[in-house]
Amino acid sequence: GNRTFTMIKPDAIENTGAIIKMIQEAGFRIVALKKTQLTPERAGQFYAVHAERPFYGDLCAYMSSGPIVPIILEKDNAVADFRKLIGATNPANAEEGTIRKLFAKSIEANAIHGSDSDENAAIESAFFFAQTEQY
Ligand code: GTP
Ligand code: MG
Repeated sequence: GNRTFTMIKPDAIENTGAIIKMIQEAGFRIVALKKTQLTPERAGQFYAVHAERPFYGDLCAYMSSGPIVPIILEKDNAVADFRKLIGATNPANAEEGTIRKLFAKSIEANAIHGSDSDENAAIESAFFFAQTEQY
């Protein structure tokens, strides 16, 4: 697939400009972008796949604690190439030069999200953007 979904998380909102610059320089085109904030309930819906994990409550509180920037991106091999650009979930394990290595604060406050499949990229894009906004 040629699209993925990302979201700058509350801990990295002050680094939005630098992060978008890195994304564009890596060859991704911005399809849709906005600034918004999740309620705890909507954060819970977005991360419903993790509902049984011990960190789910903390994650939903964190993800609704401040503004976020959801973005739809376009590039060949978008999902895999974007996950390479952001680096490992835990910034302690992220490679040098990745977005999480540069900007993440912890395994939870890890700066940015990246969809893990084409199917989830489409689901997550629709969670934030109408079809008429996805050009
Ligand atoms: P996303 O792109 O945000 O989905 O990250 P990921 O695919 O690299 O990780 P995963 O989907 O497994 O986890 C989703 C999010 O939950 C992570 O990005 C973290 O914010 C948080 N998270 C994951 N593992 C832990 C953990 O062990 N402890 C805590 N507190 N948070 C975690
Ligand atoms: Mg994930």
